[in-house]
Amino acid sequence: MKIISDIQELRDHLRGQNRASFVPTMGNLHEGHLSLMRLARQHGDPVVASIFVNRLQFGPNEDFDSYPRTMQADIDKLEKEGVYILFAPTERDLYPQPQEYRVDPPQQLGDILEGEFRPGFFKGVCTVVLKLFSCVQPKVAVFGKKDYQQLMIIRQMAKQFALPVDIIPGETIRADDGLALSSRNGYLSTEERAEAPELQRTLQEVREQVLQLNSRNTNALSELEKAAVVKLVGRGWKPDYIAIRQQSDLAPASNESLQSGEPLVILTAAKLGKTRLIDNLEI
Ligand code: PAJ
Repeated sequence: MKIISDIQELRDHLRGQNRASFVPTMGNLHEGHLSLMRLARQHGDPVVASIFVNRLQFGPNEDFDSYPRTMQADIDKLEKEGVYILFAPTERDLYPQPQEYRVDPPQQLGDILEGEFRPGFFKGVCTVVLKLFSCVQPKVAVFGKKDYQQLMIIRQMAKQFALPVDIIPGETIRADDGLALSSRNGYLSTEERAEAPELQRTLQEVREQVLQLNSRNTNALSELEKAAVVKLVGRGWKPDYIAIRQQSDLAPASNESLQSGEPLVILTAAKLGKTRLIDNLEI
């Protein structure tokens, strides 16, 4: 595997390749990331991964400085997956000048859910992903459904800018007890780790309740959301949101969307101690 930090050197190595398959990450790789590498291999060749902890997407009180950086272990894992190039730029490589041009996603997608609780987050994500796409020029790029809203926003960005890249979704990889794998799980104490699968269990309960709903009560869905929040609060969580949304545009699900069989998704973000976890479940 070639490990490259310089944009020009990356371009030189990829010259003539028009089927590259790309997986952007922030490192501290786990089975979830590696499953995306395998998926990438099915959709193109060579596979290019990137590791870059992107300052632009972290808020002032978030964990940019303490975000786990485990480069050597990550390199070993990517070598085993047969990744051809690891693009691991420094901040100076990727942002040689302050990144003043930014990609601002539309409010109705970028300022809801994660965007409401992490202002500017998706602006930082879109900006770095567009820049990484411009460096790698992949034919396909793979993103995990774990970050459901991110996947949707990147897809729309690729569509609206007519980027010549297909966005491929990867399923969420979980621990045996149901907890979605995440670099942030490492922050959890032993007790918190034991409690953490309750987030996904709660989403499964909400899904059952939605499927059994045959009520004309227009507030039924928001009552289910509220009850799930109350339950988690009772177990010591601090939920930011539990939201039942339409898969197509992440707009709130309505009774009409329920009756017409519109595909829905339940999304959540909640803090356990100091650790903020996100998860989702399609209905
Ligand atoms: P990061 O959190 O490192 O995630 C990199 C990719 O791995 C994302 O597409 C994410 O959805 C996927 N992923 C994370 N956990 C997963 C799991 N348990 N199962 C399957 N896929 C999983 O997301 C980012 O980095 C950044 O925002 C980035 C897109 C790299 C831009 O900086």
